[in-house]
Amino acid sequence: MTNASTATLLRGRTLTFRRWPDSVDDHGAYVYEEDGGLLMRDGRIIAAGSYAEIAAQAGVGVETIDHRPHLLLPGFIDAHVHVPQMQVIASYGAELLDWLNNYTFPEESKFNDAQHGRRIARLFVDEMLRHGTTTVAAYCSVHKQSAEAFFAETHERNLLTIAGKVMMDRNAPDTVLDTPQSSYDDTKALIAEWHGKGRQLYAITPRFAITSSPEQMEAAGALASEFPALHVQTHLSENHAEIALTRELYPWSKDYTDIYAHYGLLGAKTLLGHCIHLCEREADVLSETGAVAVFCPTSNLFLGSGLFDYQRYRRREKPLRIAAASDVGGGTNYSMLRTMDEGYKVIALNGEKLNPFASFWQMTRGNAEALSVTDRVGTLDAGTEADIVVLDSRATPAMRLRMETVETLAEELFLIQTLGDDRAIREVYVAGRAAKSTIATS
Ligand code: GUN
Ligand code: ZN
Repeated sequence: MTNASTATLLRGRTLTFRRWPDSVDDHGAYVYEEDGGLLMRDGRIIAAGSYAEIAAQAGVGVETIDHRPHLLLPGFIDAHVHVPQMQVIASYGAELLDWLNNYTFPEESKFNDAQHGRRIARLFVDEMLRHGTTTVAAYCSVHKQSAEAFFAETHERNLLTIAGKVMMDRNAPDTVLDTPQSSYDDTKALIAEWHGKGRQLYAITPRFAITSSPEQMEAAGALASEFPALHVQTHLSENHAEIALTRELYPWSKDYTDIYAHYGLLGAKTLLGHCIHLCEREADVLSETGAVAVFCPTSNLFLGSGLFDYQRYRRREKPLRIAAASDVGGGTNYSMLRTMDEGYKVIALNGEKLNPFASFWQMTRGNAEALSVTDRVGTLDAGTEADIVVLDSRATPAMRLRMETVETLAEELFLIQTLGDDRAIREVYVAGRAAKSTIATS
C-alpha cells in the first residue's frame, strides 16, 4: 500500500484534458505522455509530465509504481446517482412513476434502519471504486441517518463527495416522507455536521417537484439562499407523465423549469437530472442561470424516458452546461465507461456523434467543470487532489484481440469505452492512496 505522507511516483501513459475536444484531431485539447510521470504527496499531485523529467525532479529513493503499458487518467466522476437504489437496479418493466412507486419508494423505506444504510453505503463505495469512479454527486434516502451513513463511509475512505438527504413530503408512502420543517432542520444539521468535513460537500436535495409541496420547495429555497455555496440537486423533465403531473401540481407555472426558478433553486451549482423534454424557453433559463443538465443515458433508455439531445444543447445559441451520470438504480451500470457507451448510442439516435476524446473529457474534466470542482479533481494538473484511475485496454480477450488493430489513442479510448467495464480498471488512487485493495471482493 502507498503511504500518502511520503512521495510516490506513478509511471504510465498519462492523459488529461485542457478543454472540450472538438474532434479526434483536436490535439490541443489534451495532454498525453506516452511515458508519463505523476508525483504525488500528501494526497495531491505535485508534479506531472514526462517520466524522465518528473523522476529527475523526484530524486533517488522515491517509491515508484510502474503502471506501463496502462493509461493513467483522472478518476471518473458520476454527477447523479442514488445510493439507496443498489437493490432497485434491474427492476423490470416500468416507466418512471410506476418504477418509483412499485420499486424505489418501498426500497428506500428500508433506510430508516441505520444499520442497513451503513451496509449499503460501504457496498456502494466498493462498487464506485471497482468501476474507477472517485467522486459522485449522490442522493441518499429521505432519512437523515442514510446521509449520515453515506458521509461517514465516504469520509473514512477519503473520497471527494457531494451528497444530500432527499427532501420529499408528499405523493409517496409515509415511510419515505418528511415535512417541510423536518426536512429543513435535518438538512441544516447535516450541513453543519458534514459540509467541508474532510472532502465532504453537502447538496440540498429536493427530490423533484412532484414529491415536494410548495411549502417544502420554499424550505429548499430558503436553504439555497442561506447556503449559496452549496450544490442543489433535483430532477427535471424526465418523462411525459411526470411533466403532466408536475404541471397539474403547480398550475401557475410557465413550465416545469419555472417551478425551480420560482423557488430560487437555479444557479451555477444546480444539478438537474435528465432534462430530456425541455422547451426552448426552459433551455434558455438553464443557460442563463448556469444550471447543469445531467445526461443519464442508461437510465433514460432503461426507463424509456427519451433521448437527451446532447449536441443540440451544447451547440445552441444559449448553450447548456452538461454533466454525465449513471443514475443508478434507474441507470443500469455503475461504470462511467458503460454510461458513455450508451451515451454515444443516444447521441447517435439524435443523428450526431460524440468523439472519444470528448467522451473521456466528459467523464473527467467535463464533469468536474459541471460540478464546479476543477480546482480539486478531474485533471492531472499539479496542485490538484490525486484521484487517478488506471485503465487497461487489454483487460479481456475481446479487448486484447481488438487492440491488435488499434492504431491511435482515439481508437484505443473508443475501444475502452465500447468494450470496457470494471475489468478495465487496474487500480484507482484516492487522494494518492491505492484503493483497490480496500474493495470487498465478495
Ligand atoms: N425522479 C424522482 N426521483 C427519481 C429517481 O430516483 N430516479 C429517477 N430516474 N428519476 C427520479
Ligand atoms: Zn435520479
